Order: sequence, then structure tokens, then C-alpha cells
Amino acid sequence: PLHVKEELDPFSLVADELSILADRLRAMVVAEVPKLASAAEYFFKMGVEGKRFRPTLKSEAALNARLMQVLLLMASALNFPIPKSASDGGSGTPSSELRSRQQAIAEITEMIHVASLLHDDVLDDAETRRGIRSLNFVMGNKLSVLAGDFLLSRACVALASLRNTEGVLARYLFYCSDDFCHVYGITATVVSLLAKVVEHLVTGETMQMTSSSEQRCSMEYYLQKTYYKTASLISNSCKAIAILTGQTAEVSMLAYDYGKNLGLAYQLIDDVLDFTGTTASLGKPSLLDIRHGIVTAPILFAMEEFPQLRTVVDRGFDDPANVDLALEYLGKSNGIQRARELASQHAKLAAAAIESLPESDDEDVQRSRRALVDITHRVITRNK
Ligand code: FPP
Ligand code: FPP
Ligand code: MG
Ligand code: MG
Repeated sequence: PLHVKEELDPFSLVADELSILADRLRAMVVAEVPKLASAAEYFFKMGVEGKRFRPTLKSEAALNARLMQVLLLMASALNFPIPKSASDGGSGTPSSELRSRQQAIAEITEMIHVASLLHDDVLDDAETRRGIRSLNFVMGNKLSVLAGDFLLSRACVALASLRNTEGVLARYLFYCSDDFCHVYGITATVVSLLAKVVEHLVTGETMQMTSSSEQRCSMEYYLQKTYYKTASLISNSCKAIAILTGQTAEVSMLAYDYGKNLGLAYQLIDDVLDFTGTTASLGKPSLLDIRHGIVTAPILFAMEEFPQLRTVVDRGFDDPANVDLALEYLGKSNGIQRARELASQHAKLAAAAIESLPESDDEDVQRSRRALVDITHRVITRNK
């Protein structure tokens, strides 16, 4: 039977584990220089008051970390015996070691994510982040950049130390699988997956910043950029969790597909909300993208209906009158609706990936999968 709490909030399943991860994250970013330490832990704070509230409340100055919650849910959703499982494979598995390696992936991913947000807020001159003052606003650009670099370096250290528990995993998989040779490549694969994510973040941000007129008006370019900027992190870390669990290539691919489509849906809705949201609902001013000259899906769809919008886009959006003109075309078009539909399609693909996972009669596995599917609905119905 469905738990009432679970129905209300898919994230509640991993809420307790999340607070353990938050404590560990704070410990992982301790630095020799006090200023660097306080900068680095700025977004990992979940103080006394934070712990009393549900950690998923966006309005609290608490650790949100929906990314880590998705990854923990994915870890639970894949927590079923791997095929080829020998009769003695199910018992005596060091599942706590496995879980702590999966938790490490969640922590590393969150550090990379926060590092990218620190740099992003410098590039965007942002004043708020996660409902509190952004770090660049509080401590300035220079310290924010260094804090981002520092987080990235600690993420690398944590990645490298995944090797320490490799032997344990190898022994576990040796019991479960005839083909255990690939075990010795697992850590290396996970390290290179996450290294690639960092490259993708930088690539996506640079693509957004340096596009030609042709590229700015191309849906293909927009989707590629969106994959790099938003979807790569979550898709590749979902895949890393699967690989680390010793799952097959097929299952790892489904985990990747879930993350990729969830990330794309999330960003498409983000781009819609930039037009439809209000400062009060978003916690940040609306129309920021277009005012910064960033052309997103709603405008691209509107351009298909009104090709003359292209010349408006080409003139740039330094002139507020040009912004108004673009908004006028957008209002007459189905741009917003079509962007929402595309987001829904990706959300459906994400849910379909979860539903294609090998069946399991484990309660916890089923509950986690339901939560992951529920999140795909929440991503497209959110309004902040
Ligand atoms: C969180 O960033 C968002 C992403 C990392 C993009 C991928 C999408 C998800 C993990 C799903 C989000 C789920 C819902 C229900 C919207 P952030 O730093 O802005 O948010 P955070 O503070 O919650 O981590
Ligand atoms: C948020 O986008 C920004 C990102 C998802 C990635 C930013 C990446 C970099 C700045 C490259 C540097 C990366 C590392 C790892 C140091 P947004 O500005 O559209 O959204 P927002 O509303 O959350 O600010
Ligand atoms: Mg930004
Ligand atoms: Mg940005």
C-alpha cells in the first residue's frame, strides 16, 4: 500500500539519508584557509533550523539538492540482483559498501553541480541562488571563482578515492557474475564519465555565450547546448550509479536515458517559466534569458510560425523595445505551448526508461521507481 507521506513527496524516501550526505559534504570541503572553507560550504549548510524543515522546501535556506535525491532514488531503483546472479550471489552481498559508493557518486555530482553554479552566478551577475544571497553577492566574484575551483578539486579527490573500495566491489561482483573481468574497469569508467560531465558544462556554457546568428536560431543547437549545460550532469551520474552497481550496459543506458530526458524536460520548463513566471513565483526576475540575449525553445518555436521574428532576434535585445516586439510575436504564437509539449515528451521518455527496467518484486525498488516516475510529472507541472 502507498505510504501517505510518499504520495505527498517522492523525495521523502531519501530525506534521512540526504542529511547524512549533507554532513559529509560539509566535512569534505573543509579547507586550510577559513575564508575558503566558509565560501565552499556556503551552499552545503543545513543548520539546526534547516534540519527541522523538510529539506526539499525551496524557500528554506537549506540544502535542496534535488539532484542528490534523484541519484539516491536511482541507486535504490537499481538495487536488484544483477542477471547471471549465481545461487549464492544474493546472500552475503556487501550492500552497505555498494551503497556508500553510490552515495559518493551523489556527493561528487553535487560538488560539481555547486561548483558550476558558483561560476555561473559570477558569469550571470546573479544576486540570489537557492533562495539565499548568491556567494558572489556576499563574498565577491573572485572568491566565488576560487570556491568553485576548490569544490571541483575536492570532487576530483573524492573520485580518485573511489578506488579504495574497488576490491570490495570486485569480490561482490565476482559472486554475482561469470564475467567479472569488467569490474576492474568500473572505477575508471565512472571517473571518465564524471570528468566528461565537467567538460560538457563548460562546453554548454561557452556555446550559449558565443553563438553565431545561425546557431542562435537553430533548435538543434539549442538542444545540444541544453544537453551539455543541464542534462549531461544528471544523465551521466545516473549512468555512473548504474555502472557502479555492476549493472549491465542495457540497464546503465536506461538510467542514462532517464537522467537525460529528465534534465531536458527540466530545462525546457525552466525556459518556459522565464517567460510565464513572475518575480514572486520564481524568486528571481522573469525574462532574464531574453534580456541577456539568450534565445530559448519558446522563441524558437514562435520563429517557425513567424519567420520575421528572426530579424528581431538578429537585432539583439539590448533595446527593450526589441524585447517587447519578440514577446508580442511569442504571444501570438504557440511557442510556449509547444515548448511545454516538448518538455512533456521528454518527461514521458524518462518515465518510460524507468518502466523498461527489469522487473523486481522488491518493495523498496518498486517504491523508488514510483518516486522517480513521480518526479517526471513534478518537473513538468512545477511553477517555480
Ligand atoms: C537542480 O538544480 C536541477 C538540476 C540539477 C537539473 C536536473 C533536474 C532534476 C535533478 C530534477 C529536479 C526535480 C524537480 C521536482 C524540479 P538547483 O541547484 O537549481 O536545485 P536544487 O537546489 O534543488 O539542487
Ligand atoms: C545554470 O544555468 C548553469 C549551469 C547549469 C552550468 C554552468 C556551467 C559553467 C558556468 C561552467 C563551469 C563549470 C564548472 C564545473 C566549474 P542558468 O544560468 O541558465 O540557470 P540559473 O537560473 O540556475 O542561473
Ligand atoms: Mg544563471
Ligand atoms: Mg547562466
